[in-house]
Amino acid sequence: MSEFGVYVHIPFCRHRCDYCAFATWTDKDDLIAEYVEAVCSDIARTRSQGLPTVDTVFFGGGTPTRIAPHFIADIVRALPLSHNPEITVECNPDDVNLEMMEIFAEAGVNRVSFGVQSMVPRVLEILGRTHNPENVRTGVEAARHAGISSINLDVMYGAATETVDEWRTTVEHIIALGVTHISAYGLTVEAGTPLALDPSRYPDDDDQADKYMLTDQMLMSAGFENYEISNWSQPGHQCRHNKVYWSQGNYQGFGCAAHSHADGRRWWNVRTPERYISCVRNGESVEAADEVLDDETRAREALELALRTADGVPVGVLDEEELAGLIQRRGDQLVLTPQGRLLANEVILRLRPR
Ligand SMILES: C[S@@+](CC[C@H](N)C(=O)[O-])C[C@H]1O[C@@H](n2cnc3c(N)ncnc32)[C@H](O)[C@@H]1O
Ligand code: SF4
Repeated sequence: MSEFGVYVHIPFCRHRCDYCAFATWTDKDDLIAEYVEAVCSDIARTRSQGLPTVDTVFFGGGTPTRIAPHFIADIVRALPLSHNPEITVECNPDDVNLEMMEIFAEAGVNRVSFGVQSMVPRVLEILGRTHNPENVRTGVEAARHAGISSINLDVMYGAATETVDEWRTTVEHIIALGVTHISAYGLTVEAGTPLALDPSRYPDDDDQADKYMLTDQMLMSAGFENYEISNWSQPGHQCRHNKVYWSQGNYQGFGCAAHSHADGRRWWNVRTPERYISCVRNGESVEAADEVLDDETRAREALELALRTADGVPVGVLDEEELAGLIQRRGDQLVLTPQGRLLANEVILRLRPR
């Protein structure tokens, strides 16, 4: 039985990165206090209708560190937590200081995830990021000083003109920081973003494949285990919240644009903070739309999700001969090889649910 998760969306950023398609705004900071109040009221209302005890909480964005840390503490306090919850906050490195980390730790936050992207100043500039590698080092130190030792770094490969050597430097530097978890994503061109309008900056598939393989080799040598295509952890430090998603567990999203799932029904909230605040104030539902999955679709999605993780899928649902080199046996399961992880979407098309 999987754990129960809560996702809280914080839709505010200082600066809009031109590759980002998340629901976030740079000109709505005046709504922050009202927004947090609405999230807390939404939680209280949902609790009165029956909200399970919460095992994992994830504050994502947007930029959760764009709002004052006591607001994060207010939201944590509003939740019915289990006795040993995992509580993660996504942090932008240039917002972080010791006082903020201490307020987080005091509130029960025990995991932080830094949006690092690159440790090379030239590449950070190309990506339009506002921090520098030094901010990452001091941010990690501040988290540790406050007693938050479970730390993830998000990095991204494939920025226009980024060389393989620059990417290697990024991976070397994040390994040297001695953190417990690393998420490495290939830059994706998202429809509707400024990046999508400029094909000259699109990432190259072969370059991204080389960087993925390099990442995997370097992280494995440093003692990390790959447990999902884009996620590596030190033993015992897998993200429990991620695992709720990947095991089709139930989770409830609070805030605008947040998604939820309960036993095969998925729904998502209204997209803008204004609409969310107004729905909560007027006692209306914050749900924008939903979908109910039939048993067959659920079973297929379970396999697709499992194949992307180190758990893999049962022997028999893939043709081992046809996919030689891309999958391998581990006990009674079939798991993707590093080469297979690069071609996961192709392998998924060949799943034959029984
Ligand atoms: C929801 S973002 C928010 C975190 C934080 N605001 C930041 O940007 O660092 C979480 C992560 O998604 C990844 N991401 C965002 N846009 C992406 C894109 N177009 N392609 C690949 N990864 C992306 C980045 O690595 C980022 O750290
Ligand atoms: S800081 Fe993060 S959430 Fe905000 S625009 Fe940039 S990538 Fe998107």
